[in-house]
Amino acid sequence: MTRPADLRDWIARVEAMGELQHVSGAHWNLEIGTISEINYRRKPSAALLFDNIVGYPRGYRVLTGSMSNARRMAMTLGLDENLDTTQLIEALRGKPRQWEAAAPQFEPEWVETGPILENVVNGPDVDLTKFPAPLWHEHDGGRYIGTGVAVGTSDPDTGRINLGAYRMMIQENGRSATINAEAGKQGRAHYDRWFARAGRAPVIASFGHDPLLLMVAGTEVPNTISEYAYAGAMVGRKIPVIRGQVTGLPMPADAEIVVEGWIRPDRVLPEGPFGEWTGYYSGSLRPVPTMEIERLYFRNDPIILGTPPGKPPNDYSYMRALLKSAMIQDELHKVGIRDVRGVWAHETGGGRLLIVVSIKQRYCGHSRQAGYIAAQCQAAAYMNRFVIVVDDDVDPMNLEEVMWAVCTRCEPSEDIEIMRKSWGSKVDPLLADPTVPYNSRALIDACRPFEKLDTFPLVAQSAPARVREAVAKWKELFADPRFPLPETVIPSGAVHED
Ligand SMILES: Cc1cc2nc3c(=O)[nH]c(=O)nc-3n(C[C@H](O)[C@H](O)[C@H](O)COP(=O)(O)O)c2cc1C
Repeated sequence: MTRPADLRDWIARVEAMGELQHVSGAHWNLEIGTISEINYRRKPSAALLFDNIVGYPRGYRVLTGSMSNARRMAMTLGLDENLDTTQLIEALRGKPRQWEAAAPQFEPEWVETGPILENVVNGPDVDLTKFPAPLWHEHDGGRYIGTGVAVGTSDPDTGRINLGAYRMMIQENGRSATINAEAGKQGRAHYDRWFARAGRAPVIASFGHDPLLLMVAGTEVPNTISEYAYAGAMVGRKIPVIRGQVTGLPMPADAEIVVEGWIRPDRVLPEGPFGEWTGYYSGSLRPVPTMEIERLYFRNDPIILGTPPGKPPNDYSYMRALLKSAMIQDELHKVGIRDVRGVWAHETGGGRLLIVVSIKQRYCGHSRQAGYIAAQCQAAAYMNRFVIVVDDDVDPMNLEEVMWAVCTRCEPSEDIEIMRKSWGSKVDPLLADPTVPYNSRALIDACRPFEKLDTFPLVAQSAPARVREAVAKWKELFADPRFPLPETVIPSGAVHED
């Protein structure tokens, strides 16, 4: 299936799918944020395109809610738009490994020109307040132009390009912007190494682009792979890029707004707080590296790709849950964990804090092995807090079933393992000392004990075939719209079929 060429084409596709709503006349000061929040609480939620934003020219737009359902994710990835979440995860199984392997054949294509060069502004004339960057939440410390952002950096030794989604707040009346990359992130590792070598690090940041690039920038892609190449491999098409005039770093030729410049170790400004994906305002005003902008590029009538976080589920928790689930499942497979039936990184934990793994137990220790690795593999290591391992008769996406397994198959004194000093984050509301962002995590083994698999009490529910038969036979009773049947009425797993 062909996929969109750029953000504008992407928006046209969503419009054709009947999933775009236009909002005219909203204010950048909290109104866009509030409307976006109300939208992402709707099930299903729309993609919202804000235009005629108060104080800004018509055409200067903000898009939110871009990837909050299976159809829009599938369309972005060039997959079948009719897949539901479970089918989409199934379609994505094995894909991250294939993308990694194929990436070298999809290095970006360097082009001389593209729409991003329609307007070019030199450093002293840069004013980011000319774009309708929202004040998203009431207690934010400033206007975040970078939420669905892709920050490009390079490895000073190998030249490998990294893309990272690191929040960016407008600073100094629009002249600059802070880039908040957390410790351990690859972009930050790049600029630390540039500091040691050259005293400053080249950087480029795009504020509006094909949502595919946000998927890649916002996901833990292995640090050996150029992320443009990874994005190309995901969709089987090389990403066209233009060489930045100042740093030589690549920028997407069809991006909407790009800034280019430098980060220096001593140039920091207070940043935050910001309403984060954990559901809390993270931090207080803190010194954060500030980009010295030498060039600003933008298309005519530019569009900011906004992904406002907040109490989950939020704007991008579905995107993260889906990609994380596929990547964790792949990593488990890669290291040889057998019979993983499903992984779901729940939106309620922002796609990070709560991961459920379902396995068909094959040997003593299997469930703990799966849980430890799920908690610490690269795709999940940052800011995980709970991993729950369940048997294959429990649907990992269904929290009610998962918690039933926890309540009935997990003996707390035996089945909860604690891992300490793991990779935490400054956005953790429980963090005591931001200079040492560790966290701890619990592995909750909610599988029936392996040695009792044959003797564990049978589950007291009808066999799936019997339920199916009864629903078919008593159609009128169960088709009454006043009492809709839940999708989960047919038991999901290996309960006693007779
Ligand atoms: C919308 C969005 C916003 C994000 N904001 C931040 C942020 O402000 N700081 C940060 O360190 N990570 C943030 N992340 C997570 C990183 O983008 C993610 O860990 C990514 O893998 C980082 O790239 P890297 O692995 O190349 O370092 C965000 C992710 C998304 C999807």
